[in-house]
Amino acid sequence: MRQTLIAGNWKMNMTTAEAENFADELLKLNPKKNGEVLICPPFTDLYALGKKLAGSGIKLGAQNVFAEDSGAYTGEISPAMLLDLGVEYVIIGHSERRQIFNESNELINKKLLKLQEKNLKPILCIGETLEEREAGREYDLVKSQLSACLKDVNANKLKDLVIAYEPIWAIGTGRSASANDAEAICKFIRQELEKNFGDLAKEIRILYGGSVKPATINDIIAKENIDGALVGGASLKAADFAKLVAYEV
Ligand code: 13P
Repeated sequence: MRQTLIAGNWKMNMTTAEAENFADELLKLNPKKNGEVLICPPFTDLYALGKKLAGSGIKLGAQNVFAEDSGAYTGEISPAMLLDLGVEYVIIGHSERRQIFNESNELINKKLLKLQEKNLKPILCIGETLEEREAGREYDLVKSQLSACLKDVNANKLKDLVIAYEPIWAIGTGRSASANDAEAICKFIRQELEKNFGDLAKEIRILYGGSVKPATINDIIAKENIDGALVGGASLKAADFAKLVAYEV
């Protein structure tokens, strides 16, 4: 049985003081937590948020990482730096990084292999644009992102891999995929994983992301092949995040 994962991706939001306030509020609300709960703040909040959340059971994730151990890579952050701050998960391949910072499947694959080597858990984001969906290419696109990003993956560490299906047209638009549409693609993703990795694929968690709100989480999580959610906007308010992690099935 796969444990669910509700992950907040704060993107480029929250100063350290704001992150600390969020943590205080969330801890005060003390929501019932189903499965694993994760917050991925900006790098600059990791230390302070980690201190606030210590002992709460809420885990820390990062929004990005570089694919090298150390060296002359101005502006980048290494896996060791993240481990040092208590980070357990790292988002890679987010569509904003692909579109705004031109990250390729090849680079994302390098990051994934590096995370596996360092025992950090990758949350690999994949998903199609509106144009690709309207052309009926969403399945092909997701399949090719999966195969390129998972090239040479260490099969022994697949249980720590999380895939986040995030259709780009649903991100920050308020236009969520229907639970049935999201399930159809997530089911396809699982079938692709099974083709490549056999029974090991059953342990890989698949999240849906794109305008997930407290009002929609229950329907999404009830789906057989969706094991949680990667949430942007609705993870920025403690009251909303508390409702998300207390989803009901
Ligand atoms: P929204 O929940 O704001 O649509 O963002 C989704 C997302 O990109 C999470 O990584």
